[in-house]
Amino acid sequence: MTEPITGGRAAADADWWRQAVVYQIYPRSFADANGDGIGDLPGITSRAGYLADLGVDAVWLSPFYPSALADGGYDVDDYRDVDPRLGSLDDFDVMIKALHDKGIKLIVDIVPNHSSNRHEWFRQALAAPKGSPERDRYVFRDGLGERGELPPADWTSMFGGPAWTPVGDGQWYLHLFAIEQPDFNWRNEEVRADFLTTLRFWSDRGVDGFRVDVAHALAKHLPDDLPSETELAAMDKATGTHLLWDRDEVHDIYADWRRVFDEYDPPRIAVAEAWVNPPWRRARYASAEGLGQAFNFDLLEADFDAGAFRRIITDNLEQAADSGSSTTWVFSNHDVIRHATRYGLPPNGDQPRRSGRAWLLSGGAEPALDAAAGLRRARAATLLMLALPGSAYLYQGEELGLGEVADIPAQDRQDPTFFRSPGVDVGRDGCRVPIPWTTGGDSFGFGDDGAHLPQPEWFGGLSVEAQEGDPASTLALYRDALALRRELQTTEALDWAPSGPEVLHVKRAGGWEAVANFGAGPAPLPEGEVLLASGPVEGGELPPETTVWLRTTA
Ligand code: GLC
Ligand code: CA
Repeated sequence: MTEPITGGRAAADADWWRQAVVYQIYPRSFADANGDGIGDLPGITSRAGYLADLGVDAVWLSPFYPSALADGGYDVDDYRDVDPRLGSLDDFDVMIKALHDKGIKLIVDIVPNHSSNRHEWFRQALAAPKGSPERDRYVFRDGLGERGELPPADWTSMFGGPAWTPVGDGQWYLHLFAIEQPDFNWRNEEVRADFLTTLRFWSDRGVDGFRVDVAHALAKHLPDDLPSETELAAMDKATGTHLLWDRDEVHDIYADWRRVFDEYDPPRIAVAEAWVNPPWRRARYASAEGLGQAFNFDLLEADFDAGAFRRIITDNLEQAADSGSSTTWVFSNHDVIRHATRYGLPPNGDQPRRSGRAWLLSGGAEPALDAAAGLRRARAATLLMLALPGSAYLYQGEELGLGEVADIPAQDRQDPTFFRSPGVDVGRDGCRVPIPWTTGGDSFGFGDDGAHLPQPEWFGGLSVEAQEGDPASTLALYRDALALRRELQTTEALDWAPSGPEVLHVKRAGGWEAVANFGAGPAPLPEGEVLLASGPVEGGELPPETTVWLRTTA
């Protein structure tokens, strides 16, 4: 395929997403307009100017639907409404207009694997008898034992605890995640049709695209005799025939979705959250007949290491080329420890993503965190990432260099992983603490009356207000990088220039280069005009753990 040239916001064409910078908003923690401690849609509207100044091309909004918040909103009661605590459909329309007026697109999260247990259909399923059409929309099974008192299988949910829960009449329902998140039966025609209605509902309201939650789980095949957890774990995931994950027929669902996306002009876009292995299996999610793009979480699982980054960049550019899509990059989101903190903790061998677990469990005491090094590395890694071809997904607060909050008291915790994995996992609340907008005041400018998760004292020093006007701040670095990226953006190709083992030197068309020094000592600074640097650069050398953008006369 030809190489599309996409200049970010300037490009109004169907390919706008290919090299977009997408900013993830976790709505309950972004800005609270009515002072009830919970972020809301009018809060986002009030910050449209901030998002435009930051220079993002699109916003991805995590779930804002009515929800009891058993899983941060990923337990949806009604897919075609707004949680009254966050606003109304009218507020949604005002918000999307405010974003569009600033040239910012809107992607919304869609959660098709499961609804909440408060969804009308699940209530109907509980009220209806075994074998009814109402139960067929979910995954019900008879229990084992004489009266069905034993679970149909010994499976564990993703949040810990059993994946099957009894409903009192000998039947059990499947929930791969929390008890409050019953899995849909995607063989049911009503389920399939209803999601198409939902996609049209939001597309008609002007939504530009969808982030598809757990996209690899929808298609399931449950034989009469269910395998045990151990047997399930031993099943090959590369063949597309695993009973629960990444089955080939999931792509029939997305082919239907694609037809809906293509009813619109420009076509609506989608990005799959698909944790698949081997990685080449991502390509079908990312194909033009499917969702069109898929997250690549490799950077979020890697240490700050030149060799690891080089391998990841090379592999993912190849994979993207195979699928015809563009690649995606992400360091942080609402599910993982913020990268400014991850990089300040000692490396954790082949489990880098778990590196913060022990630290979180100890309330931030051990191992010792080097916050300054973490931020220095995060800035260097981000500046390299923003020079790569493909789209960049940023998570709210990373532009402030926010770190993970470790010392959240147990009584304030919200994440189901905390409750379902006692002593093993404290959960994801530490990256969901409300954003500090001002240096002081109640909830640091988040709202007028507290924050639904407690903010630490140090948040004030990292607030937008504290960084505004400081050219060395992380906020300034992100703003400068996004503005320059828009100017320099070019074809989706990359060349490697020769460099030492601790240095990565990439070249884009038009004389845009990025040089990242991952090492502990200085490296030679290649020829060229320094456009931007992740830290102080003086005297012709590239300091340790620093990235620069250069312009050369190509
Ligand atoms: C995705 C979401 C995560 C959620 C899970 C279940 O992984 O990113 O936050 O808990 O799906 O919906
Ligand atoms: Ca509010």
